[in-house]
Amino acid sequence: MARTLIAPSILAADFARLGEEVRAAEAAGADMIHVDVMDGHFVPNISIGPSVVKSIRPHSKLPFDVHLMIAPVDPFIQQFRDAGADIITVHPEAGPHVHRTLQAIRASGAKAGVSLNPGTPAEVVDPIIDLVDLILVMSVNPGFGGQSFIETALPKIEKLRKKIDATGRDIILEVDGGVNAKTAPRVIEAGATALVAGTAVYGGDPTKYADNIRAIRGSA
Ligand code: DX5
Ligand code: ZN
Repeated sequence: MARTLIAPSILAADFARLGEEVRAAEAAGADMIHVDVMDGHFVPNISIGPSVVKSIRPHSKLPFDVHLMIAPVDPFIQQFRDAGADIITVHPEAGPHVHRTLQAIRASGAKAGVSLNPGTPAEVVDPIIDLVDLILVMSVNPGFGGQSFIETALPKIEKLRKKIDATGRDIILEVDGGVNAKTAPRVIEAGATALVAGTAVYGGDPTKYADNIRAIRGSA
């Protein structure tokens, strides 16, 4: 089996030193940089916009995995692509036409992802699976880092694993929220191929990022 991709979420990093924090995650063995974009409207928190993504882009060669928790989302897709997003993930609830939104992401040149909230069923992907390169299962309600893993994510990951296998395509199955060295083994067992981790990577001592990533990946 391919090794699990680890995507540290910079939401838990030191925003005053973001360039350095992104470089540190790459040096520590991260596979992607997860960028959480929140608008205070779709979710009850505000984080960063395209100008910050553009500023940190030169600090890493890793793919930028940009998770948009904003509504409306369509007017901002090209801006995030131009700022350096490699993968752009959206929530179906963020607009009336998720199919069109995914087409627009691909037309921008980015890979397209769809994100399912804890209350959103796996079946939502059925009519759009041909348009996605990544499915993001939220294992917390979006808006904040540091929340506890919601167990109902596990059967949903299993269902989505089957749906992805049936396509024969290499769609990334990513899980986001409360992922740490304790919860990660079950998430991987359920069929995830990528793990987002904010607090579990960036929380605590900056000299421990590599140890944290190894622990989540399960090779510690
Ligand atoms: C939540 C974000 C997550 C968050 C994860 O809305 O999408 O990416 O940063 O944080 P942890 O890993 O601390 O649960
Ligand atoms: Zn996220």
